[in-house]
Amino acid sequence: MTKMVKIAPSILSADFARLGEEVRAVDAAGCDYIHVDVMDGHFVPNLTFGPPVIKCLRPVTKKPFDVHLMINPAQPYLQDYAEAGADIITVHVEADPHLDRSLQVIRSFGKKAGVSLNPGTPESAVEHVLDKVDLILVMSVNPGFGGQSFIPSQLKKIERLREMIGDRPIELEVDGGINAETAADVIAAGAKVLVAGNAVFGGGDYTDTIAALRPAAN
Ligand code: DX5
Ligand code: ZN
Repeated sequence: MTKMVKIAPSILSADFARLGEEVRAVDAAGCDYIHVDVMDGHFVPNLTFGPPVIKCLRPVTKKPFDVHLMINPAQPYLQDYAEAGADIITVHVEADPHLDRSLQVIRSFGKKAGVSLNPGTPESAVEHVLDKVDLILVMSVNPGFGGQSFIPSQLKKIERLREMIGDRPIELEVDGGINAETAADVIAAGAKVLVAGNAVFGGGDYTDTIAALRPAAN
């Protein structure tokens, strides 16, 4: 079970002045995905970057770009992110009155479709799209910033989602406050993809910081 745990470093915590080098470094250090946090200063109280930056980073690595859209609306921009080189495009259920359509649009570009839930959003919000989604992203902090503390109430939600997913080929990802300790808890609850910003980029050798998040059995 634990053998399939993937690590997705969030470049939100990288050194933006050396972004290309940072992506190359976590690739070489053995990450599985590159997690790209897109923020609009409206859905979340912070601003990051958009398609041009993703496009510039695309030639740097072959690892999948796991693009987490914290923007409202998202639908008008989905094609831009697909064309910029995203592999997985995740929209927030709270920011999308037409979630079912957005997921179809993302898949129509040949990309994997993800849906994310804020800490206050119950898992029932994604029940109607379980057959149209490739990834479910549980926010274990209030989205907007790296380096926040893990919200323990999300563990039960992860367990319930794992149950709801059943045999479907849906990746269950967790984002926010992941470190060696909380990684063990979310894996035990059923998560298979761990986003980590501060824990990877916050200090130390990237091979070591990534390895510290993987279960010993990996
Ligand atoms: C928060 C972002 C996260 C964040 C994670 O809004 O979606 O991806 O960068 O950072 P850490 O791992 O530092 O909590
Ligand atoms: Zn994220």
